[in-house]
Amino acid sequence: MKIGIDKIGFYTPHLYVDMNKLAVARDVEPEKFTIGIGQSQMAIAPITQDPISLAANAALQIIDEEDKAKIDLVIFGTESGIDHSKSGAVYVHQLLGLRSEARAMEIKQACYGATAAIQLAKGHIALHPESRVLVLGSDIARYGLRTGGEATQGAGAVALVISANPSVMVLEDESAYFTSDIMDFWRPVYSETAYVDGKFSNEQYIHFFAKVWEQYKEKTGLQLADYEAICFHLPYTKMGFKALKTILEEASEKEQERLLTNYKTSTLYNRNVGNIYTGSLYLSLLSLLEQKEDLQEGARFGMYSYGSGAVGEFFSGILQPGYREHLFVAEHAAQFQARKEVSVAEYEAIFQESLPTDGSTVELDISQDPATICLAGISDHQRNYVNKQQ
Ligand code: COA
Repeated sequence: MKIGIDKIGFYTPHLYVDMNKLAVARDVEPEKFTIGIGQSQMAIAPITQDPISLAANAALQIIDEEDKAKIDLVIFGTESGIDHSKSGAVYVHQLLGLRSEARAMEIKQACYGATAAIQLAKGHIALHPESRVLVLGSDIARYGLRTGGEATQGAGAVALVISANPSVMVLEDESAYFTSDIMDFWRPVYSETAYVDGKFSNEQYIHFFAKVWEQYKEKTGLQLADYEAICFHLPYTKMGFKALKTILEEASEKEQERLLTNYKTSTLYNRNVGNIYTGSLYLSLLSLLEQKEDLQEGARFGMYSYGSGAVGEFFSGILQPGYREHLFVAEHAAQFQARKEVSVAEYEAIFQESLPTDGSTVELDISQDPATICLAGISDHQRNYVNKQQ
């Protein structure tokens, strides 16, 4: 049975900071951020957006009545969840008006969460071919002002409908994965920001890539030349390039050129959004699918997922005939177009705004947030969301 991505949507908050200006403010050469790290703009989440609202906004764009009738499983991948107990999936399920006869859960393994969700979704569809699964990858990446990781923050969500006979991409059955207990990046439950050993994390990302790539080739007999492109989890766009470079020589010069050109296209959205953690790989895939117009049906894409801590996975997908008609290219272009730049001082002020943690009530002004679904406040220890369409 063919199972894979039927639809793919994306949402990022309407505010961003220019990385050249952030560099100047931090007394760093702008080229370090724009070339060395490979980021041009960084999405900033206002206080009226959290991982739940971001995910709901991403899904709202792609879900139609048929999806609503068929989705019986919602899996929310995140590493910036809002509750230790209740899953983000239940909130999104309600905000989208999905049917009650559904399972809903949250899944966590750093930036690997959405990939784990997709693999579980595939198993569910294999048993229930008529059903559809909504997979969400949503995060706000926070390292802190003036920290080493500051230039690799971001915010956004990806939503995917996984189904049988998918319109966009069939995910091939074979997959290669690797787990090892390492401390390259983590966020203790008491901390608002992540702890990261950036250099070690880079090294491990590449090490895990080598492990799963070799394992995958052994399992499948596929070679680098069989790929139109390889998409990577991108905490920042230079990262995937470092991993790709380690295997490029396995291909001919012409193939290397193709892989490098496609890699560049696959990083366009990420370059202007920043790190969105678990949705990052799928944002990269989306960037390539939407920004390269002449991709051939039947083309194979490799996908490298990495979640610190750490789990790595490599798998592949085959582009389906007519895939482009099922993308939301114009909607995503309009979303980027409508974003508003904030100054570094404004970004710092937004970053420092926080929700109460002592149980007090707060009402938020959602009039300045153009998103359809917003966080409107907190009362009785509960977050209150508003869907402006309802
Ligand atoms: N022009 C061009 N490139 C420049 C430059 C300039 N003026 N100045 C520096 N650079 C390059 C460096 O050579 C380096 O390139 P390299 O990585 O290819 O060697 C790059 O910019 C970064 O410089 P570096 O000194 O290593 O930056 P840093 O110490 O500030 O750390 C990160 C950068 C990305 C490691 C750090 O921001 C981080 O840890 N981010 C979090 C990463 C993460 O999320 N990991 C976990 C998830 S996988």
